[in-house]
Amino acid sequence: MVTTGNESLMHTGTIWFPEAGSALAGQTDLLFYTIFVASVLFFLVLIGITAFFLVKYKRSGKHTAALKQITHNDKLEIIWSVIPLIVVMGIFYWGYMEYLKLIVPPANTVDIHVTGKKWMWQFEYPQGKQTLTDLVVPVNQPIKLIMSSEDVLHSFYLPNFRVKKDVIPNRYTVLWFSPERVGNFQIFCTEYCGDGHSQMLGNLKVVSAEDYQKFLTEEEGKDIPDDQLDKLGAKLYVSKGCVACHSLDGKPGVGPSWKGLYGSKRTFSNAPAEVADDNYIRESVVKPGAKVVTGFGPVMPTFSGLLSDREITGIIAYIKTIK
Ligand code: CUA
Repeated sequence: MVTTGNESLMHTGTIWFPEAGSALAGQTDLLFYTIFVASVLFFLVLIGITAFFLVKYKRSGKHTAALKQITHNDKLEIIWSVIPLIVVMGIFYWGYMEYLKLIVPPANTVDIHVTGKKWMWQFEYPQGKQTLTDLVVPVNQPIKLIMSSEDVLHSFYLPNFRVKKDVIPNRYTVLWFSPERVGNFQIFCTEYCGDGHSQMLGNLKVVSAEDYQKFLTEEEGKDIPDDQLDKLGAKLYVSKGCVACHSLDGKPGVGPSWKGLYGSKRTFSNAPAEVADDNYIRESVVKPGAKVVTGFGPVMPTFSGLLSDREITGIIAYIKTIK
């Protein structure tokens, strides 16, 4: 299981919803609860009246036939048609206005590009900085995500913000939200997209405006310069999404396990066999299609440009420790 650090957060909120991260989420919840409570009330009233009539007008020795046939009652029929009509039109209007707020982003957004691919989320920020899995955004700023997929249909879901949108190849979809407090929130893929779907997770990190500026300008990996290489690799294994496809216990996943990988003889469906050394692992990270291990599909996306040299070295060092 992947730990995201959000577990405690997922347990706040109610039985229906996790904690709301924006005012709009609170409005969505209010609409939901209104419809829910109204539905429960109507249900109880209708079932109650039905049960009452069942007992009261049960055919018995006393009542063997209807006393008279009632064909209609104008007053009653108008009442039970017009009142529900007003109620559902009111709910429709309310829902429609909420929907407009949900799909039309405000003018002054921070635009971040999102790419979904099997099986990770990749983010690109205005200044060209990129991250995998972690989406970092400033607090109290409307954020607009411009999303597309490299392969199949995915769906980007932020439960705390009550927003969700399909991420589709060859097309851009847009999703916006306005985080109102600093913290970590869960990102899910909610469209079944293959073997690694349930591991296609991410973290939304809402930070202060200053921290966001710092994040945009800082070098990738600079915040963990003291890590030993193998410890760095272990962190990247989770944060860069390797965990979705590569197990550590020898079980084959979407990709080969990392257990005992280093120094083992590898056979490929598209290249001669080779012993896995540092250069082989490096090549597999930046050009995954060059040598595809027998029995696996050519599905791994390239991490070229997404990992610094030191990070790749860290991953190799980590793989060496998994014997
Ligand atoms: Cu991507 Cu499910």
